[in-house]
Amino acid sequence: MSGGVTPFDADESAIAVAHANVALVKYWGKRDERLNLPAVGSISLTLDGLRASATVGPRPDSGACFLQDGRPVDGVAGRRMAGFLDLLAGGDGPKLATSVEANFPVGAGLASSAAIFCAVTAAALSLLGRHVSLAHLSALARQGSGSASRSVYGGLVEWHRGVADDGSDSYATQILRHDEWPLALLVAITSEDMKKHPSRDAMRHVAATSPLYAGWLEAQDDDLRAMRAAIAARDLAEVGRIAEENCLRMHATGLAARPPVLFWTPATVAAMDAVRALRDDGVGAWFTIDAGPQVKVLCHPDDAEAVARCLRSVPGVLRVLRSGSGPGIAMQRGSVPWT
Ligand code: PMV
Repeated sequence: MSGGVTPFDADESAIAVAHANVALVKYWGKRDERLNLPAVGSISLTLDGLRASATVGPRPDSGACFLQDGRPVDGVAGRRMAGFLDLLAGGDGPKLATSVEANFPVGAGLASSAAIFCAVTAAALSLLGRHVSLAHLSALARQGSGSASRSVYGGLVEWHRGVADDGSDSYATQILRHDEWPLALLVAITSEDMKKHPSRDAMRHVAATSPLYAGWLEAQDDDLRAMRAAIAARDLAEVGRIAEENCLRMHATGLAARPPVLFWTPATVAAMDAVRALRDDGVGAWFTIDAGPQVKVLCHPDDAEAVARCLRSVPGVLRVLRSGSGPGIAMQRGSVPWT
């Protein structure tokens, strides 16, 4: 990441940096599409290796309001960002634009939207001179991308489903700071292509057509409870077991949808097999997979090199990214908008 070749003047723009996160208990399905309220709570790990920076400034009279790595983004993604910037600015607020850069592939199932929408939220609030609580910042980021609500915090984070119709109780809180429990997460990249099915379309389709979706909803509270207890006990084997089972249950809902939604490639399956073989050999490693073909593997930092070596040898794995538990949102330019 170059740190920001942007079309904005330094004195009229703000820059925030946020990290991606990977859900260990997944968000999958919405209870309200307009407010982007989840049907279930979720728990994630913020990743120090995958970061995005967003510069927000005034929208130019002509040209794009959303640049990614210096290139204009139009179509659905461009309109989604324009709508989000308008929401942050409020009805009578100034028109805003943003330029984002990420140090990892965007739109490939690596939670880039979490880091990007979280960073855009903080930079926009800073530019607007607003001050909000971190919970409020999380609830705003949620409206850009659900998983962005969790990137506000470092370490292990829970996004609460909430019950209020207006979404006021659906935001994330921190469970453990990133320095309270060292963890490693390796990402086996099996494809650099854009995702076949954007998460929000896949969720909508699965919720509407999969007979297994009801079972997914029913099992989630048990997973959340068990995951909170496993984190409190710093029990990595239990955290890994719950994460793997939760991930497979989420993907099962897609397999049962009409027509089915399958995110895996042969390399995805081979990487899952490799992780199971590592465990058979006594190495503590557990996989999770989001709405894409990449395989994310949780382990103790002492085992990270052995796990990375094993993943690199899997046919079809293009490269392996290494992350630890990362920090929450930070400002690089402009005043801090949270209190
Ligand atoms: O935040 P979204 O709309 O990109 O959805 C994320 C969905 C999953 O990555 C599959 C699960 C999760 O909790 O991050």
